[in-house]
Amino acid sequence: MTANIIDGKAFASGLRGRIGALVPAFVARAGRAPGLAVVLVGDDPASQVYVRSKHKATVEAGMQSFEHRLPADTSAQALLALVADLNADTCVDGILVQLPLPPHIDDKAVLAAIDPAKDVDGFHVVNAGKLAVGEQALVPCTPLGSLMLLKDVLGDLAGLHAVVIGRSNIVGKPMAQLLLQQSCTVTIAHSRTRDLPAIVRLADIVVAAVGRAEMVRGDWIKQGATVIDVGINRVPANEPGQTRLVGDVAYDECTQVAGAITPVPGGVGPMTIACLLRNTLVAAHHRAGLAAPVGL
Ligand code: GUN
Repeated sequence: MTANIIDGKAFASGLRGRIGALVPAFVARAGRAPGLAVVLVGDDPASQVYVRSKHKATVEAGMQSFEHRLPADTSAQALLALVADLNADTCVDGILVQLPLPPHIDDKAVLAAIDPAKDVDGFHVVNAGKLAVGEQALVPCTPLGSLMLLKDVLGDLAGLHAVVIGRSNIVGKPMAQLLLQQSCTVTIAHSRTRDLPAIVRLADIVVAAVGRAEMVRGDWIKQGATVIDVGINRVPANEPGQTRLVGDVAYDECTQVAGAITPVPGGVGPMTIACLLRNTLVAAHHRAGLAAPVGL
């Protein structure tokens, strides 16, 4: 059997189209476009690429994009002052501070300073707490996008055993919460888990978010399981001096066993930006006192 390849790029493109189509109605009612502010501190090349893509996608969806690029030696105080300004700015519905921040800045303090109503990353403890108790929350974009793909492939997820590999606040923990809300049986595995292959072999759904290139092998996967690969790892390519992107899953091996699998690139990655736009549109509706569109 060869797995169905889950086309995250196509799904994300459709979602972005649906979001863009909803923007004019928001503008008509609120008298302004939804606004997303992205803050980048320093010149990390990967972060620069992400921030550029976010800006482009925001503008393409008909939203306002506010970009703030600050030097690497920006003080925590200056960054917190900018966050306070963005919190107070009525044209800004979403605030995203690109991570990682330079080591001299405490990222927890910065994330805590963002107004939870504008926290389109869903990283604020208020949103994490709301997600954990099943209240309406802004949900982190990568797990939200992964869940959308899973529901598209599998429909009802109730009763399925999901193994999430990784326990980060950004992906692993919120992913587990979302799957639990869908009535999955959820196992969270991580770097200290004993006999990880045996646990993954039980899974109907595997979400790999560990940040280790091609760690999940084909013989760990149950026949027909659905595999979501959140990893993006740059590794040396066959040609000298060249690199290529791989996920946390050994793709060629796992496609022989899985029922469906996301590729890297073109799987989960494009969903993250689409969900950022989704969260910005939802936050904009809430802030304008309007009911958020359903089914996004
Ligand atoms: N760095 C890598 N991914 C993300 C993300 O989803 N949000 C933020 N704020 N920073 C990131």
